[in-house]
Amino acid sequence: MKKVSIITGGAKGIGAAIGYKLGKQGYSIAIADIDENAGKYRENQFRNEGIDSIFIRTDVSSENDVSNLVERVYEKYGRIDVLINNAGIGFSGKSIEEQTLEEWKRIIDTNLTGVWLCSKYVVKYMKNSGGVIINIASTRAFQSEPNTEPYSASKGGVIALTHSLAVSLSKYNIRVISISPGWIDTSKWQVPPKESYLSGLDHGQHLTKRVGKPEDIASLVSFLVSEDASWISGVNFTVDGGMTVKMIYIDENVIQDSLTLLFNDSYLSTLIRKLIDKAKENKEDIKKKLEEIL
Ligand SMILES: NC(=O)c1ccc[n+]([C@@H]2O[C@H](COP(=O)([O-])OP(=O)(O)OC[C@H]3O[C@@H](n4cnc5c(N)ncnc54)[C@H](O)[C@@H]3O)[C@@H](O)[C@H]2O)c1
Repeated sequence: MKKVSIITGGAKGIGAAIGYKLGKQGYSIAIADIDENAGKYRENQFRNEGIDSIFIRTDVSSENDVSNLVERVYEKYGRIDVLINNAGIGFSGKSIEEQTLEEWKRIIDTNLTGVWLCSKYVVKYMKNSGGVIINIASTRAFQSEPNTEPYSASKGGVIALTHSLAVSLSKYNIRVISISPGWIDTSKWQVPPKESYLSGLDHGQHLTKRVGKPEDIASLVSFLVSEDASWISGVNFTVDGGMTVKMIYIDENVIQDSLTLLFNDSYLSTLIRKLIDKAKENKEDIKKKLEEIL
């Protein structure tokens, strides 16, 4: 009998790639997503590729939707082995003073409460035979850009919820693990697929010399749900091409290296570097010359 995985936010992006990977490994895939068009598109794509799949329109922040999702999946398949809590929405661009309580609640309800709700409802069926819950957090649980409070807080919450669930559910042989992706280019897994517009600078600033792909996360998920990972629970895996271990002190060399990546042109970056050195000697002169050029 096929194993069954529910994947929230499985219609697009990282969730879709996880569904594809597990589906190709023989899982039946329940795509739980708020986007009806994308959900149907993905269900069709999976079926055409020989993956047993069902789309169930679900808003993970709605208790009714989540309860309906879990009941329908169990009714159809008679088992739930894996839950991937992946649905999430981003937030940026507004200062703490401008952020509204409504915006805060929307992010927390989707990214954190959704994880809690889906976990709560699957336990009823997963506890009979054990299972795995994977929560998709983010490196933003540990690091921030300005004006991202709701998102960072929601993802920090997901990591805490992960170890809390892992401890509580171990008695049912349910393992709970979080994955914190770094920068993942999801364009290929959008509906319809999009072009990727990444620059050399985007790729080159990673230790691995490239921005991540949804497949990078799907590969880890595939290992973590397998028996080979049966001793792993309660922890977080950061998968970010090495971005978060990189300590950055900005100096002229870093600027020059970045410009080389940006323009893919080491001669141009050397010229700009010389300009910087000259500006350090005579700022006013360089300003005048640049004004003439520009
Ligand atoms: N892409 C990245 O760089 C990145 C980095 C770190 C973490 N993440 C996390 O990975 C997860 C997937 O992100 P992605 O980049 O693939 O995003 P995405 O927007 O491509 O896909 C997210 C999916 O979730 C669905 N969704 C949104 N709100 C929902 C709701 N209330 N109920 C059910 N489904 C809902 C969307 O319709 C969409 O199909 C998110 O939790 C995100 O925070 C992404």
